[in-house]
Amino acid sequence: MAQNISPSRHPAHQPVVITLDGPAGSGKSAVAHQLARYLGFQHLDTGAMYRAVTLDAIERGITQNPQAMASRVGELNLDFDWNRQPAHILLNGRDVSEAIRTPEVTRLTYVSADNTAVRTVLVDCQRRIAEKTGRIVTEGRDQGTIVFPDAICKFYLDADIDVRADRRINELAKKGVLVTKIKMVEELKNRDAQDKSRAIGGLAVASGAIIVDTTLLTPKQVVEELARHAAEKIAEAAGAADAVKP
Ligand code: C5P
Repeated sequence: MAQNISPSRHPAHQPVVITLDGPAGSGKSAVAHQLARYLGFQHLDTGAMYRAVTLDAIERGITQNPQAMASRVGELNLDFDWNRQPAHILLNGRDVSEAIRTPEVTRLTYVSADNTAVRTVLVDCQRRIAEKTGRIVTEGRDQGTIVFPDAICKFYLDADIDVRADRRINELAKKGVLVTKIKMVEELKNRDAQDKSRAIGGLAVASGAIIVDTTLLTPKQVVEELARHAAEKIAEAAGAADAVKP
């Protein structure tokens, strides 16, 4: 049963933000979506935003031109259709939620993620989405470290590389894409190295984040654990807000 938490109980009308960071295949997306539904929050997939900017760069033939990408990102209108579950990403009004999941986009997304101008625009956009929606579970690599360091509750999800590879292989198989285990492990190791070594917005455990190893857990068990921590933190914040009321 969904639990609705009133943002009016959070101090100074700030958006109520829960962050989930972690490497590819750690189970973030499925868990973030379920957790958001359970709490009655919106779910923001920030990886989809970096993917959408990359898709646009592929279509324009500018993936190897960081300056062109930096100018182009200012012209892009990135939005979400929140009526869909999970929300669909819109690139200049076009629904690209399927198009951003191709192996080519996955392989090239580092070009957006490494681009400082792109990061600045997307971070700003993510903060505006949080303001607008008021209650958000947001997932990515830098959500707890850079974008929402004051989030009410921060999580870092991780899992064994073998299990992460199996999860990604199964996800892709459902879409008819077959990848060998050796290739997937290699791809994940490459993405981990790229994501962790990024100078700005690199994958790291945020200060105060709760680390959850999902290797041996089902998505349902992870959601239950996260929901328990989130409910505690939200209740604490609500109590603190009540305590300062005149
Ligand atoms: O989460 P997902 O795997 O879809 O993200 C695709 C890529 O986008 C990541 O490998 C990472 O390089 C980048 N990314 C990022 N910062 C975020 C979310 C994703 O750099 N907040």
